Amino acid sequence: MPNLDRIVFYGRTLDEYRRFFALDLESLKGAAVLDCPAGASSFTAEAFSMGIHAVAFDAMYGPNLKAIMDSGSEDIDHVVDAVAREKQKYLWDYYSDISGLKKRRAEALQKFSEDYPVGAMENRYFKGQLPVLPFETGVFDLVLSGHFLFCYSDRLDYAFHKAAILEMLRVTSGEVRIYPLTTLTLEPCGFVTDIIADLDKDGITAEIAPVPFEFVKGANQMLRVYRK
Ligand SMILES: C[S@@+](CC[C@H](N)C(=O)[O-])C[C@H]1O[C@@H](n2cnc3c(N)ncnc32)[C@H](O)[C@@H]1O
Repeated sequence: MPNLDRIVFYGRTLDEYRRFFALDLESLKGAAVLDCPAGASSFTAEAFSMGIHAVAFDAMYGPNLKAIMDSGSEDIDHVVDAVAREKQKYLWDYYSDISGLKKRRAEALQKFSEDYPVGAMENRYFKGQLPVLPFETGVFDLVLSGHFLFCYSDRLDYAFHKAAILEMLRVTSGEVRIYPLTTLTLEPCGFVTDIIADLDKDGITAEIAPVPFEFVKGANQMLRVYRK
């Protein structure tokens, strides 16, 4: 994401998640997957409709869907305008152009909003604040964390990153995947190397893996975190 003044309520589609988390969706059918923080992503809505037990967690969720949607629409314009100012820093093979990017964002917000009212009643959307999660230990097969950790390392410190990763690891019996490993200024985040070394001391593997997606130039890797 480009340099932004706030943590945006923004979200991507299942197809984008599939690419930047290198997911094999068929193998996830029947699995419990946490999207954390999910923002206005349609991953949970779309994954649930194909038989994946997807759950979304975000600080901005709440009972007022209109307020959530207003934030989502406002933040699409905010981010897309910022991307348009630095178009040359991105690769456009997936979105084609600014209008293609905006179309994807609107599609995600629309699908999210259609699922959210029912999904919240079915306990598929949870409001809360990392680094604390309201879930039992080991209940998810996979935890996905996109466009939050490392991106906002200018305002979320190293201790927050480590605590959030350990908490996400606590609730999975499988692994945590984090994408991208770049900051909002589109540079590699310096916390990544320290996190890898730090978790290793606690008997946790954190390894960088390639993903078949690159929008921000150079952002083609994720971090996989799991117990040895
Ligand atoms: C860019 S969005 C996430 C988008 C989504 N994961 C994706 O890849 O499309 C970042 C989200 O972090 C949420 N957020 C900010 N601080 C948080 C916290 N401490 N705990 C949980 N969510 C938080 C914001 O509400 C926002 O929706």
